[in-house]
Amino acid sequence: MTFTIEPIVPKPEQSGVDFGAMIHDLDLDKLTDEDFKKLEEAVYTYQVVVVRNQSHVSPKTQYEITKRFEPEVDTYGHGGQHRAEQSVIARDLSPFPEVPQVQLLGHGTVRNYQGIEERKLTHPHHKVFHRDVLSQEDQDAGKTRFYRWHMDAALYKLNPPKVTSLFGFKNPEPRRETVVYDDGSGDTLDVQLGTTAFVSGQRMFELLPPDLKELAFRTKVKYAAHPYLWMSKAKARSTGLGMVSEGKELKPEELPPVDEKAVKIYPMLWKNPVTGKIHFQVHPAAVEDLIIDGKPMGDLEKVREFLYKMQRPGINPENVLAHEWKDGDMVFFHNRGLLHSVVGCLRDDDVRIFHQCNMASAQDPIPVTEEDFAPYRTQASAA
Ligand SMILES: [Fe+2]
Repeated sequence: MTFTIEPIVPKPEQSGVDFGAMIHDLDLDKLTDEDFKKLEEAVYTYQVVVVRNQSHVSPKTQYEITKRFEPEVDTYGHGGQHRAEQSVIARDLSPFPEVPQVQLLGHGTVRNYQGIEERKLTHPHHKVFHRDVLSQEDQDAGKTRFYRWHMDAALYKLNPPKVTSLFGFKNPEPRRETVVYDDGSGDTLDVQLGTTAFVSGQRMFELLPPDLKELAFRTKVKYAAHPYLWMSKAKARSTGLGMVSEGKELKPEELPPVDEKAVKIYPMLWKNPVTGKIHFQVHPAAVEDLIIDGKPMGDLEKVREFLYKMQRPGINPENVLAHEWKDGDMVFFHNRGLLHSVVGCLRDDDVRIFHQCNMASAQDPIPVTEEDFAPYRTQASAA
């Protein structure tokens, strides 16, 4: 018997969430080829697929299943680049000794766990990444932020993983928190402590007015070389959606040598391999330039302002799927079709144990062709 997929029915406040699905009756330890095909299709169709009750699944099994989405590659999505000490990724991840493609992450001290003797984990906290931070008083009152909207990707040398698996082995106590956007909008979102927030790149595209859709179709995104080192002294906006421009990015002479062939330039719009739909897929913090009709903008501050204008509607509270984790949830998400963010201000005595796995992809993202874009072009010229 194969399993059933139940689309997530969002709360009325989440009127823009048109993605996400839940699976209750599947044991990932016994995944058949037929099951995997169905799971793979579901991930590309629903973007986020939650498989409940998988506490028994080992890091090795998680790795083996995640690898089936990318059978030709064996390299973790960040390769070894995230281990550079100052990288903004290094502080959040620790590989399992026997399965280095799977990372242990979370909060609190973990002992004798899956081959790891002892590790002190720290849940990423916005105070280390945002320019302006919440006061302790606000945090004590349950306010929090989106830490960093991103896709999981090295964005230099390696292609972005297609699918990430995120396993919630242990969650902190179920306190509620309120995400505050603090960007003058007054926007807030009620979430579970330690939620993972997702927004759909397809929705982000659909929300653009016709002229910006057209512009997005003509734009390529150039990512910084060694992006996580490059941005290591810069700070993010209060929404976690991209960086504030203060000239703090590392200069070329402060970075390791750059191999120009390893610099990543991708279209702004990527095609979903199963639904054929168009996703606006940009990791805002790592962008160095936008190339419109072959012409680089060449002004980082303007690039960021323009991107923010395009992406901000996509993270409006009604468009955010903030997953309510249960211990044993294995989540597979379409890393090339959405953005996600860590959320939450955990206290010293909160414990959270998660495993994350993805594989750098052998293939570039799928570009959107003239033919794919044609229906929107009609819309643009009719407007
Ligand atoms: Fe991530």
